Amino acid sequence: MVTEALTQAAALLAGARRIAVLTGAGVSAESGVPTFRGSGGLWEGRPVEEVASPQGFLADPLRVWRFYEERRRKLVGVRPNPGHDVLARWQGCFEEYHLITQNVDGLHQLAGADRVLELHGNIWRVRCLACGRERDDRTVPFPELPPRCAACGGLERPGVVWFGEFLPQDVLQIASQAAEEAEVLVVVGTSAVVYPAAGLVEVTARHGGKVIEVNPDPSALAHVATVQLRGPSGDVLPRLAALMGKPA
Ligand code: OAD
Repeated sequence: MVTEALTQAAALLAGARRIAVLTGAGVSAESGVPTFRGSGGLWEGRPVEEVASPQGFLADPLRVWRFYEERRRKLVGVRPNPGHDVLARWQGCFEEYHLITQNVDGLHQLAGADRVLELHGNIWRVRCLACGRERDDRTVPFPELPPRCAACGGLERPGVVWFGEFLPQDVLQIASQAAEEAEVLVVVGTSAVVYPAAGLVEVTARHGGKVIEVNPDPSALAHVATVQLRGPSGDVLPRLAALMGKPA
C-alpha cells in the first residue's frame, strides 16, 4: 500500500543529491539477528557492563569471549534481507551517499555495500591488546578461548566498540560530516539512544537536512523526523525505492 508518508519520503529522496543513512540493529532483525533492547533483545536481563565494556573484559575475558563467540556463531550463514539490498544499491543512485551503521554484523557489506562507515567496529575483527595487531577472522568456534595473537602471544579482544570507549575517530569524523551535509538522512532500525551515533540525527536536523525514520516503533529521536515510515525495513525500504524509481 502506498501511504502519504511513503510518497512524501520518496519525493524527498528523489529530489536530493546528498543522502546519508544511519542504521541500527533493526535493519538486520528480518535476517534473524536479535536487536539489543526490548523483549528478547541481547541486553535483556544482562548487565551490559559485564560483557560490553573494557572493565568487563579485563575482569573476565573468557566470559566476554563466550558472549561474542555465541553472537558470531549465530551469524554464520545469516543473509542480508531486502532492506540491506536496497541500501547497498542506493550507493549508485545519488551524487553523494554515505551508509553509516552501528551494526557489527557486516551484513551491509554482504549485500554489496562498500565504504560502509562502521561506528561500532565489526564482530569478525579481532585486535591484540598487547601489540595492537588487527585481523579479520571468521573462525567459529575458535580452537581456544580467549584467542591469542600469533605475532606476540598477547590477549586478543573483539574488534568492536564497547561502552565507555571512543568510537574510531576517523570513521566518526567522516560520518559527522556526512550527517552535516546530508540533504536527507534516512534513519533505519535504531532506538537512537546510544551516543554519539544517535547525535548524527540531531546534526542533520540542526543543519537543515530532512530526516526520514524507518522503524516499526518510534525511536527516541522520532520527533526530529520529517517523515516517519512505520514498518519493518525489509518491507518499507523496497517499497520506498520502487516509488522513487531507484532500484529496489
Ligand atoms: P536497539 O536494539 O536499541 O534498537 C533496535 C531498533 O530497531 C528499535 O527501535 C526497534 O523498534 C527497531 N526494529 C525492530 N525490528 C525492526 C525491523 N524489522 N525494521 C526496522 N526496525 C526494526 O539497537 P540499536 O539502536 O542498533 O552498541 O542500538 C544501538 C547500540 O546499542 C548498538 O550498536 C550497541 C547497543 O548497545 C554497542 O554495543 C556499543
